[in-house]
Amino acid sequence: MKIFLDTANVAELREAVAMGLVDGCTTNPSLIAKEKRPFRPLVEEICSVVPGDVSLEVVATDFEGMVKEGKELAQVAKNVVVKCPLTKDGLKAVKYLSGEGIRINQTLCFSAPQALLSAKAGATYISPFLGRLDDIGAVGMDLIRDICEIYRNYGFKTQVLAASIRNPLHVVDAAKAGAHVCTMPFAVLEMLMKHPLTDIGLKKFLDDWNKSGASI
Ligand code: E4P
Repeated sequence: MKIFLDTANVAELREAVAMGLVDGCTTNPSLIAKEKRPFRPLVEEICSVVPGDVSLEVVATDFEGMVKEGKELAQVAKNVVVKCPLTKDGLKAVKYLSGEGIRINQTLCFSAPQALLSAKAGATYISPFLGRLDDIGAVGMDLIRDICEIYRNYGFKTQVLAASIRNPLHVVDAAKAGAHVCTMPFAVLEMLMKHPLTDIGLKKFLDDWNKSGASI
């Protein structure tokens, strides 16, 4: 499973990329706004730092506007994947832009039928938001499982990008379900590497070693 960072923060991206653990990045208008930087230089820097796909989202809501913005965003860098929302116009834009050779991440997916249509429209990635479903008392992971099953049944090439990840359990369950990608905040990536028994074990090893007077 690929790991993407869900952030527009260049410092976080640089740190995670330096660890060699990041395969790509997803942004959205809220994450971009949080950075309080001019759009174009910010996304150019993100695209140069990240070794893989970088999702940049359109803000138009009509078909023509999404196509226009999608074409502009695709020019930012070779690794840009244009993000379009899962609406009627968004599906039309996915069909059109993917026909033009522009790769699309279809975002704000909250149901299996939405995901089926997106795959038929030719999306490269589908982004089911599992945390936001959990937030309203639904089981977000069921959606990931359903989409993976439907795509497998028909051999769709669209990759399932588990989004709106809140914790390590989401990552593990998405991997078990067969999601191709998990996009997560930097804080969740850090949580993935931590375990209290690792810290306790390391301390004990080093205490014993230091008491022994040995050296390597
Ligand atoms: C995905 O591409 C979105 O940017 C993201 O995962 C949304 O997550 P949130 O629900 O934590 O805002």
